[in-house]
Amino acid sequence: MTQTVMTQTLLSVKDLSVEFVGHKSTVHAVNGVNLRVNAGEIVGIVGESGCGKSTAVKGILGLLQAPGKVTGGSAELAGHGDLLSIKNKNLRKVRGASVGYVAQNPFGSLNPIYSIEEQFRNILKAHGQPSAKKVARERARAMLTSVGIAGPDRVLDGYSHQLSGGMAQRVVIAMAMLLEPELIIADEPTTGLDVTVQRQILDLIRDRVVDSTRGILLVTHDLGVIAQYCHRVVVMYAGKVVEAGSVETVFLNPAHPYTSALLGAIPRPGHELTRLLGSVPDLRVVPTDCSFRPRCKHAFEACSVSPDLREIAPDHLVACHLSERVGHGAS
Ligand SMILES: Nc1ncnc2c1ncn2[C@@H]1O[C@H](COP(=O)(O)OP(=O)(O)OP(=O)(O)O)[C@@H](O)[C@H]1O
Ligand SMILES: [Mg+2]
Repeated sequence: MTQTVMTQTLLSVKDLSVEFVGHKSTVHAVNGVNLRVNAGEIVGIVGESGCGKSTAVKGILGLLQAPGKVTGGSAELAGHGDLLSIKNKNLRKVRGASVGYVAQNPFGSLNPIYSIEEQFRNILKAHGQPSAKKVARERARAMLTSVGIAGPDRVLDGYSHQLSGGMAQRVVIAMAMLLEPELIIADEPTTGLDVTVQRQILDLIRDRVVDSTRGILLVTHDLGVIAQYCHRVVVMYAGKVVEAGSVETVFLNPAHPYTSALLGAIPRPGHELTRLLGSVPDLRVVPTDCSFRPRCKHAFEACSVSPDLREIAPDHLVACHLSERVGHGAS
């Protein structure tokens, strides 16, 4: 008997665009991004610094600060509709309860003037959950223990400036998971931490969050992290998605020269190490050609027109003219 597995989409982002409008110029940081997180999945977003990863995530969550502005698109969260059209007050309710956010800098999301205990209580209060002192403390203590903090009482009585980077990151993750959201969006949750702590933190995010009804969107520079933790990967370059697919497909058969270049820069058995030369383009200029063209060793005439993201195999998307040439790979 064949079993039908229903895939539930938790988050579906379509055509997301974000701009930072300055006096003299506009930074087109995110340009028509599409991505999806299904229940039970960890989806990684990867790309060099400045490619728009954090901006895309903040756009989805309504956390952009002026002059940042979402200029188009939608971000459907299962059961809540389009996050981009929800009013601020209601969006604050969705954030925390249905989507947990772990920001790139943990200290930026902790309030220096409240104790850690008060901050846990405030989250419960803001979401109308039982927040009497004793109840809240017990819940916070359990959460901190579950993220591997051995002395939760000391942490709860203290303030953010007393925490190490790794500890602050665990506290922020515990806060993001407090209300058991369906989706966690974590932006470089382990950057700057030593490798052992990194793995511990990623393990606990994965183990605590992913079951058949929940998912994670994980932003990282680290393809090793993607390989180890993610089911699918979205490769961003210059504010656009240039390739997306299952980790296995994208790692074994990268179809975009940028993906190949990123993979070439990490040590892998049986692969020669290569360096990706050049840098990401100035996002103040709207390109008419492919943004990767100046750095691409495969560039040809067609690349003077910006390529669309196309499905080249089931669930394998690429934005590259090379993939339209039969028999041409990117490696
Ligand atoms: N407040 C701002 N004003 C103007 N431009 C901004 C602002 N914040 C970000 N940008 C620009 O938006 C682009 C995308 O930045 P973003 O921080 O999203 O990149 P990222 O992929 O998250 O990089 P990293 O890997 O370094 O975190 C960059 O060109 C950046 O300079
Ligand atoms: Mg970032």
